[in-house]
Amino acid sequence: MLTCTQVTKDYAGVRALCDVTLDVAPGERVALLGHNGAGKSTLMKIVLGLIPATSGRVTVAGAGPGSRTAREAAAYLPENAAFHPALTGREQIALYLRLRGEAAAKAGALLERVGLGAAADRRIGTYSKGMRQRVGLAQALIGRPRLMVLDEPTSGLDPVSRREFYAILDELARAGAAILLSSHALTEVEARTDRIAILSKGRLVANDTLGALRREAGLPIQIEVAARPGTVGEVAERLSGTRVNGVRVALHCGPDDKLARLGQIAGLGGLIEDVEVMPPSLEDLYTHFSRRAGE
Ligand SMILES: Nc1ncnc2c1ncn2[C@@H]1O[C@H](COP(=O)(O)OP(=O)(O)O)[C@@H](O)[C@H]1O
Ligand SMILES: [Mg+2]
Repeated sequence: MLTCTQVTKDYAGVRALCDVTLDVAPGERVALLGHNGAGKSTLMKIVLGLIPATSGRVTVAGAGPGSRTAREAAAYLPENAAFHPALTGREQIALYLRLRGEAAAKAGALLERVGLGAAADRRIGTYSKGMRQRVGLAQALIGRPRLMVLDEPTSGLDPVSRREFYAILDELARAGAAILLSSHALTEVEARTDRIAILSKGRLVANDTLGALRREAGLPIQIEVAARPGTVGEVAERLSGTRVNGVRVALHCGPDDKLARLGQIAGLGGLIEDVEVMPPSLEDLYTHFSRRAGE
């Protein structure tokens, strides 16, 4: 649904993107991760045909960005979506519907879908940041898009709204939409996307499933053992671990000796209260791949 091939973008004197190759298939949810200034918004604007690439090739539904086919296929939620504060949610969405050549009466159902049914007839000026974000999502849902491009869509949303937001994206992906969403909040996309693309200073330094990235990075796994009262010293010594506090002991191991390590822990039987295995976090992977690219 979306292909980007060796896309490079120079702003006067600044290389914002360098040789980025990235595809998104129908039904796939891809997270584009990167710190501020990594080039996420630039890539999205190129995909939408809002700004031209300096070189490289982009297709949306097989057509050039900004072409009629591409515009019909794609929906966009910009990073700082601004709406008219004097309009109600219903009036604002009705306006977008008319711009897209659709019946204004569909506004109610769209607002209902994003959880704004009860606030539909209030002015947007009275909405919270999260509610305005939902107006943006309702706008992006117009016309059954086949590619959704969402720039930092969950910044400013509370955890419940985030969950609801991702539930809507899951529904769209199940119906076959390709989804590209950017975020600098690394942990939240972990369970919510099929693939993770990491941009670092304009270069794509990783592009794979979370599991594959974890395997490729081979970062240590952290194990935390809770010892029974009064046994923490013995547990730390017998496992050669580090005492964290009066009950917990921390261990590290490679992906390949995880089971052996767990076997040792199980061997201590009655001394152990609980065990927690923590794979490398997305932050760890992010740091690993960004650093590796810099070398
Ligand atoms: N219109 C512009 N003119 C000049 N430089 C820009 C412009 N837009 C973005 N940049 C620069 O391009 C780089 C990437 O920016 P951006 O795509 O907004 O990153 P992100 O969305 O990941 O935070 C940054 O260094 C930014 O300062
Ligand atoms: Mg941005």
